[in-house]
Amino acid sequence: MGLLDGKKALITGARKGIGRGIALTLANEGADVGINDIVDDEVSQRAAELVSNRGVKGTFHVGDVSTVVGINSVIDSFIAEHGRIDILINNAIFPDQARPLFDTDEVFWDRMMDLSLKGYFFGSQRAAKEMIDQGTGGSIVCLASVHAYTAIKDWTAYGTAKAGLRRMVKGFAIDLKGHNINANCIAPGAISNVLPDSDADDVIDGAPHDASRFTAHLPAAKGGLPSDIANAVLYLTSELGQYVNGETILVDGGMVATKTMQD
Ligand SMILES: NC(=O)c1ccc[n+]([C@@H]2O[C@H](COP(=O)([O-])OP(=O)(O)OC[C@H]3O[C@@H](n4cnc5c(N)ncnc54)[C@H](O)[C@@H]3O)[C@@H](O)[C@H]2O)c1
Repeated sequence: MGLLDGKKALITGARKGIGRGIALTLANEGADVGINDIVDDEVSQRAAELVSNRGVKGTFHVGDVSTVVGINSVIDSFIAEHGRIDILINNAIFPDQARPLFDTDEVFWDRMMDLSLKGYFFGSQRAAKEMIDQGTGGSIVCLASVHAYTAIKDWTAYGTAKAGLRRMVKGFAIDLKGHNINANCIAPGAISNVLPDSDADDVIDGAPHDASRFTAHLPAAKGGLPSDIANAVLYLTSELGQYVNGETILVDGGMVATKTMQD
């Protein structure tokens, strides 16, 4: 018996990194998993295959979740394959998220907000509508960040979007009252997002960050791994965490507690 037997979970931006770790972890607990990404290549297809190798259904859904049309098309594709949606994990992000204040132009701002706020909002809205129509409840998780709590130079647009997600899930909690849907954020610290060297079925995490970057200042004295985040997502999406709603859980090795973002 797994904690998520029979549940249908869609994870955006899950070809690699934290999303991939969440996909494999939820699959380990019995969920059928749809992997979305804007990139469709061998790595994307392999991620869906690794889900299937766990004895559950694994599918891949290419699409850009920074537009309303894009996220709806991905959810349509997921429901066509899986019949319904019980869990949505809003996780997608583009690389190069830092941008100095005076280099932050309208194009970069819109790109950040379209993916990290608009896409996460309308994906959640659509998923919640499906969950209400199904009458089975569900879970929504958004990937926020330590940048939602405290500022570090050149990360203002990203941090603003991530801080918005903390408020967004509080809104979902109250707006979805009575529908047995919980909506929360996980706020990761510094998490290695590289693919594992090994292609073995049971390997979830890639190489960790060099721990020497963290030993001087971070309570955990090491960087985090996708499975550290995925285990927190598992808690929120399973029966274990159903009474948690509108909350953001830091999974950061103590980074924000000690205001040590100088990594
Ligand atoms: N890695 C960290 O240290 C860290 C720290 C704090 C928060 N986070 C958050 O965790 C989440 C995952 O981060 P990660 O480091 O694993 O990312 P990652 O870069 O490893 O993976 C993100 C994936 O999203 C995909 N993507 C980009 N734009 C997309 C779009 N428009 N539509 C669909 N897919 C798209 C990318 O192709 C990529 O595969 C993000 O929300 C990020 O902000 C990560």
